[in-house]
Amino acid sequence: MFYLDFLAETHRRLKPSAYLEIGVDVGHSLALADCPSIGVDPDFRIEAELDQRVALFRTLSDEYFDRPDPLAPTGGIPFELSFIDGLHLFEFALRDLIVAERHSAARGVVILDDVLPRTVDESSRERHTVAWTGDVFRVVEALSRYRPELVLLPLDTSPTGLLMVLGLDPTSTVLVDHYDEIMAELRRPDPQEVPVEILDRTSVISPERLLQAGVLEALSELPSQSTHAEVSEVIPQLVAARLGPGFVASAA
Ligand SMILES: C[S@@+](CC[C@H](N)C(=O)[O-])C[C@H]1O[C@@H](n2cnc3c(N)ncnc32)[C@H](O)[C@@H]1O
Repeated sequence: MFYLDFLAETHRRLKPSAYLEIGVDVGHSLALADCPSIGVDPDFRIEAELDQRVALFRTLSDEYFDRPDPLAPTGGIPFELSFIDGLHLFEFALRDLIVAERHSAARGVVILDDVLPRTVDESSRERHTVAWTGDVFRVVEALSRYRPELVLLPLDTSPTGLLMVLGLDPTSTVLVDHYDEIMAELRRPDPQEVPVEILDRTSVISPERLLQAGVLEALSELPSQSTHAEVSEVIPQLVAARLGPGFVASAA
């Protein structure tokens, strides 16, 4: 399934009250939003028709989230869906995930693009290919090691895979507290050593299976004010029951 088709289904089934997109470009993915939304990109060139409730910011994601009230454009509604597709370098993608989670509802969903490079060349930090994932795939390992309570669902979408992150904790400071350590441990110079399981897509979920399992509809039925403690009781069991225990660390 093409990533935009999966994102369209995600919007339709989750019905988020607020949406964040980091990395907008011409607006193909942002055009799927049907709620108060924030799009951040220093170099967007909109060609798609956007909902009137979309607020666009021509700036870097780090700068946008330095402002005192990043949720002002949504009227204070925390993000229930975020799509991270900005600069394809490990440290940028990790920081984007940190700020997205901080301003999300606990029942919210964060989706990262480009976690499944198809070749080592495509995963280089120094871009030299047309299609480029950079080393964003390293975010998956960072989250598995430092945030094992999160539910991580790698999705076999074309062209370069998505990672769906559930069970968010907007109060967590673990990734910020360990940021330097994570970079020292996991960031590597080119050429990248991409695990063969990533190149072969051996531990991924088919997007069709995730959609058929009704996980997004079940998330949309959780109370919007649910706390992290409440969702962390429900989401791992929900995912294990519908997709099997393999994607939930606490059930493994
Ligand atoms: C792959 S494109 C986004 C495509 C879009 N999400 C879609 O699917 O149609 C990546 C975008 O990220 C933007 N970008 C690069 N660095 C960024 C940063 N630090 N913060 C936000 N956006 C960034 C680029 O300007 C580019 O438009």
